Amino acid sequence: MVNLREEYARTGFIKFPRDERLLTWLKHAGPAALAASRDEAEREAWLDCEGTWFIGVDALKNDELGAINGSGPLTCDAMDFLADLNQTRPLHKGQVSVVWPGYPRPRKGESEAALGYRRNRDAAHLDGLRPDPETRARRIEEPHAWVLGIPVNDAPEGASPLVIWPGSHVIMRDALLRLLADVAPEDMDKIDVTAIYQAARKQVFETCERVEITAQPGEAYLMHRHMLHGVAPWRDGVESGPDGRAIIYFRPECAGGVAEWIDPRHV
Ligand SMILES: [Fe+2]
Repeated sequence: MVNLREEYARTGFIKFPRDERLLTWLKHAGPAALAASRDEAEREAWLDCEGTWFIGVDALKNDELGAINGSGPLTCDAMDFLADLNQTRPLHKGQVSVVWPGYPRPRKGESEAALGYRRNRDAAHLDGLRPDPETRARRIEEPHAWVLGIPVNDAPEGASPLVIWPGSHVIMRDALLRLLADVAPEDMDKIDVTAIYQAARKQVFETCERVEITAQPGEAYLMHRHMLHGVAPWRDGVESGPDGRAIIYFRPECAGGVAEWIDPRHV
């Protein structure tokens, strides 16, 4: 655990190897996740990018312990590691993110520039910082504690893997911390972080390595809340079944809001 802690602090990411407990959980959760991605009402709400991405927010109807479809609580090496960090949180309904060959087609209402960024830069972003639809100003709206990814089905390399920039969590945090240092905790979610965020992101592209993460059922990955990340385009010629490549994501929010989110003492 000590080595993992050091790795998590340094790189902002841990990939956990195949875990039998997670495979047992997936026997219940996997079919529920794929059923959600095929459900007509869910697809109506969440199918985007011209049918190449099911975004699937809250699509997995699990409880706060991760129990779903008779699975019992979610237990696995990644959850043990989070418990060791004192970072166990009540879980929200999981996101079921499914991507198919052809991704990315444009999202509804997406500009040419944004589509270009999706194609050329993996739509790299920090979770929880959404641009205002009118002004494009970004604020820290959803201060997540961490992001846990759980692959549901087999994914060959090139099947729109998660992309990370190890070490970017330190660059992003330091930049945002400088901006928020003198802001009262209750005002932190009102600050426009756009310019600082974009400058830090540019620094990440220039100084950090881009790494594609391909993972299979039974494996899981934990991503630091300040990690710049995205999704790669589906590589031409890579095959897929009808269920694409599906990943369940949990990203519970910090109870202490943005002040907790930006606090460097909190791992
Ligand atoms: Fe994300």
